[in-house]
Amino acid sequence: MTATTPPTEPVEDWTTDYDIFDADYVTDPTPIWKDLRSGCPMARTDRRGIRSWLPTKYDDVQALAKIVPELSSKDPLVVTLPTDMGIDNSSGLSAPPISADPPEQVWTRRMILPAFAPRAVESHRQFTQDLCNRLIDGFIDSGECDGAVDYAQQIPPRVIAHMLGFDPEKADDFTTWVRGALELGLFDPVIRVKYRDIIQTFLIDEVRSRWENPRDDYLSELLALDVPEMKGREVQVVVGIANLLLIAGIDTTWSSIGSALFHMGTHPEDRRRLAADDTLFPTALEEMLRFYSPVTMARMAQEDVPFGDIVIKSGEKVLMNFPGANHDEDAFEDADKVLIDRTRNRHIAFGSGIHRCAGSNLARLEMDVALRTWFARIPEFEVSDPGGVTWAGGQVRGPRRLPVSF
Ligand code: HEM
Repeated sequence: MTATTPPTEPVEDWTTDYDIFDADYVTDPTPIWKDLRSGCPMARTDRRGIRSWLPTKYDDVQALAKIVPELSSKDPLVVTLPTDMGIDNSSGLSAPPISADPPEQVWTRRMILPAFAPRAVESHRQFTQDLCNRLIDGFIDSGECDGAVDYAQQIPPRVIAHMLGFDPEKADDFTTWVRGALELGLFDPVIRVKYRDIIQTFLIDEVRSRWENPRDDYLSELLALDVPEMKGREVQVVVGIANLLLIAGIDTTWSSIGSALFHMGTHPEDRRRLAADDTLFPTALEEMLRFYSPVTMARMAQEDVPFGDIVIKSGEKVLMNFPGANHDEDAFEDADKVLIDRTRNRHIAFGSGIHRCAGSNLARLEMDVALRTWFARIPEFEVSDPGGVTWAGGQVRGPRRLPVSF
């Protein structure tokens, strides 16, 4: 397995110089978290021109997520930004509610929640299932595929395009743009700004055309909502929200579906159990979310924030290490083992506190349909070349190449 990360200086001391882009961390961060938890549960680094903190305990991550707005989600909420490139360095993620603090966070979140309620997302099940079947039709006869590229990656952009009322033909572009803005662009502001601008231009066109000629679709509904705070700047607000839904919904869910296929393709016992007993899907899915949690976010201190025996100084960052929290032995028995029938599983893969994932019901639906459809048609499979698996890390961790045979 290899990590698709930019070259970084080797880490000598994880407690004072951690690096979530280190190849070992991207490939398997669990031993690093375990060591940190036992000696220095709040690691720090001064890499990339800014001090940032990495909590590794479940209770600490939960507590930090509640320190709002002192630990702010306003830009930059991405995990790292190079600060020495001399160009516009903002993340470009003007994307409420995730990039906002209250009160803006509250009213923008309220605008989108109804569309993500359990019953509302159920209306996307058939579309998602047909899509998964079509994808499988495309490679099943060949006996092999790239589970990340040919399957997992194809699902979320098409579901989001369907939900937002965009041309389904643009789904591949969405993936390229989001990867550019979030994955490749994390280290390269030129790439980040390029894709940020492409996304913004596309969304401004789409939203403006609906503002002028409302359609029977979701973005038109958002524009028509009677929200006093949005009056007079409807297009701007809805562009920001659409930006978030595009960005938040694509490589997160792609990573989760890919990680689940990676796990089942490298753990034949779990795969056989799941294939033989479909009542295990709900617990297996939650365990995949816990064990392979893809998303790490960041906050920026707006003032000095005392926390335990440290002080997070104004201007410093804290990473919301939801993945690390989900491996804390004090919160989960056998935390570093995958138990697909784990029943007590209060993981925080979807975050914690006011920013908890608004799209979690849709993400779960996509994962559920993607895995059930795959298992119904391809119950026997394996990762054919474990050395050929690559992982993206940083903000969103997940397999990007996953050679599978069946
Ligand atoms: C397995 C897939 C996903 C995972 C693991 C995930 C994870 C997360 C996490 C950890 C947060 C909290 C961010 C923070 O604390 O700063 C978040 C927020 C959010 N997610 Fe997801 N997400 C997933 C899929 C989705 C999907 C499919 C959508 C919708 C299309 C979505 C929409 C959102 C939104 C709107 C927020 C912001 C909520 C707020 O700030 O109030 N997510 N997500």
